[in-house]
Amino acid sequence: MSGSIFEDVDVYIDSLFTPDEDILSDVLSRAAAAGLPDIHISPGQGKFLYLLAKMIGAKRILELGTLAGYSTIWLGRAMPPGGKLTTIEIDPVHADVARTSLEEAGLSDRCEVVTASALEALPKLEGPFDLIFIDANKESYPAYLSHAVRLTRPGGLILADNVVRRGAVLGNSMDPAVIGAKAFNQALASHPRLEAIVLQQVGRKGHDGLAIARVKDS
Ligand code: DHB
Ligand code: MG
Repeated sequence: MSGSIFEDVDVYIDSLFTPDEDILSDVLSRAAAAGLPDIHISPGQGKFLYLLAKMIGAKRILELGTLAGYSTIWLGRAMPPGGKLTTIEIDPVHADVARTSLEEAGLSDRCEVVTASALEALPKLEGPFDLIFIDANKESYPAYLSHAVRLTRPGGLILADNVVRRGAVLGNSMDPAVIGAKAFNQALASHPRLEAIVLQQVGRKGHDGLAIARVKDS
């Protein structure tokens, strides 16, 4: 054990609920070898996304920001047979790493990596999706949200990573990522078609938050 109590408990929880698995650890090694930043979600966060997707029986999933495909694998595995996940990644190197990872995870038939800017791809996408996971450029989170509401079915979920930013959302930071997260949270809280909350998260990924919103039925 090392690090803060929050990290240690995070590792403890993961050791119980997310057994080590070669496919997932290979994704992280492949990502590191290709020089990708170590900003993947944690195993426990992956399990949480997986459970949310399963709870609503998600068959059509959209992800914005693929990185190495780590979260993609968790979400892809949650879908029943016939499910289809589209994940959008702006960086072609990241997209290639993710395609290899999805192939290794046996999910290539169900999960498609689209190399594009999410902002450019979103207007061309057709819904409805059961679940949308936002984890791309933080500055563009408010714009992603408008599209996500249009593209998600009633009763569907919109999730977004990194909306607390180590508490920086409390201050007057000029960091575009923080400004994006604050505007996103504000829009989420006041949107007439959404019921939402932000879950503060601490652990091996530091201090951040996951937004969870459900599109109202009518
Ligand atoms: C960071 C973390 C993330 O999960 C992400 O999607 C982007 C950046 C970060 O810690 O900088
Ligand atoms: Mg993230």
